Amino acid sequence: MGSDHVRIALIGAGRMGRVHLGALRSSREVELVGVVEPLGNVRAGLVAEGIRTYETVELLLDRDRPDAALIAAPSDRHLELVALLADARVPMLCEKPVGVRAEQADAATRAAADAGVLLQVGYWRRFVPELRDLRQRISSGQLGSICQLSCMQWDHDLPSERFRTHSGGISVDMGVHEFDQARWLVGEEFSWLAGAAAGPTSVARPAADPDCCVLLGQLSGGAAVTISLGRRFPHMDSCWLEIWGTDGYARVPFMWDTAGDQLYRACMVEQVEAFARAVRGERCAGAEGPDAVAALNVAALAAEALGAAAGRANHGV
Ligand SMILES: NC(=O)c1ccc[n+]([C@@H]2O[C@H](COP(=O)([O-])OP(=O)(O)OC[C@H]3O[C@@H](n4cnc5c(N)ncnc54)[C@H](O)[C@@H]3O)[C@@H](O)[C@H]2O)c1
Repeated sequence: MGSDHVRIALIGAGRMGRVHLGALRSSREVELVGVVEPLGNVRAGLVAEGIRTYETVELLLDRDRPDAALIAAPSDRHLELVALLADARVPMLCEKPVGVRAEQADAATRAAADAGVLLQVGYWRRFVPELRDLRQRISSGQLGSICQLSCMQWDHDLPSERFRTHSGGISVDMGVHEFDQARWLVGEEFSWLAGAAAGPTSVARPAADPDCCVLLGQLSGGAAVTISLGRRFPHMDSCWLEIWGTDGYARVPFMWDTAGDQLYRACMVEQVEAFARAVRGERCAGAEGPDAVAALNVAALAAEALGAAAGRANHGV
């Protein structure tokens, strides 16, 4: 790490990779080394923008070893990429969910720990100022005992079928954000979870991947959590929550309208800069491997609940 900037390579330049590319290029604390992307046409577009590209992580490590890497490849590729970079002793910020099953997140966490490198996880909500403030109000007791938390996450458009086949289904792709958010905000784990698909689904999908669903769970301290997830929303991509305590209530529409998109992008900058500081030795301010494992464990409960509900619906019970 010669210069003042932490030199970061981006792995994967799809939908989310593009958002991270914007954050990496706009930050004054990090420097973009280049982008690993297997698709030739995507690499050609990046080269036209003056960005160095590599077809594989091995080529990146051979040619321009970075200080750190940001993984935004498909979720089912996360474990192999984390293992490869950990082996090369490269600290990582990996997009959520770090694999599509808890065993994969656990293996990735162990690979990083065994190599002695940082594995931060891209749960960007931990960098939303309003949510940080809410977490502080909860932990200081301002809301009293928490009775109920309701979390809503509705995307504007359906993702591509290709994305969906690599995403692990709605409880993994979308749900993990809410599971991590609830655990982090309230500081408790989920005890159980039930759920059902909500409304019709666009094309024949596995029972665990409807277009929309509702989940109901409970945290270890007794608070009920409802989660509403949807892949089609006439508004923009939107996330909001409500929380009821014995002494207070809050409604936080933290991702709403064009301001929501600006906040999302600002949080990506905040997140990667916090990662850079952790690479330099500061305490990690984001989620880490065990958080990814915990969220994927809850996602497995959700997938099971959605499958069971579909079975009951099919049998008319
Ligand atoms: N934090 C968030 O809000 C958020 C939002 C969307 C997606 N994501 C996560 O980001 C990740 C990527 O999602 P996406 O929507 O960008 O998917 P995508 O399919 O649009 O893009 C993935 C890109 O990775 C490339 N790729 C495939 N294998 C690779 C490899 N071995 N090495 C490097 N690149 C590889 C693909 O060619 C593609 O360009 C997923 O894990 C997803 O869960 C997070």
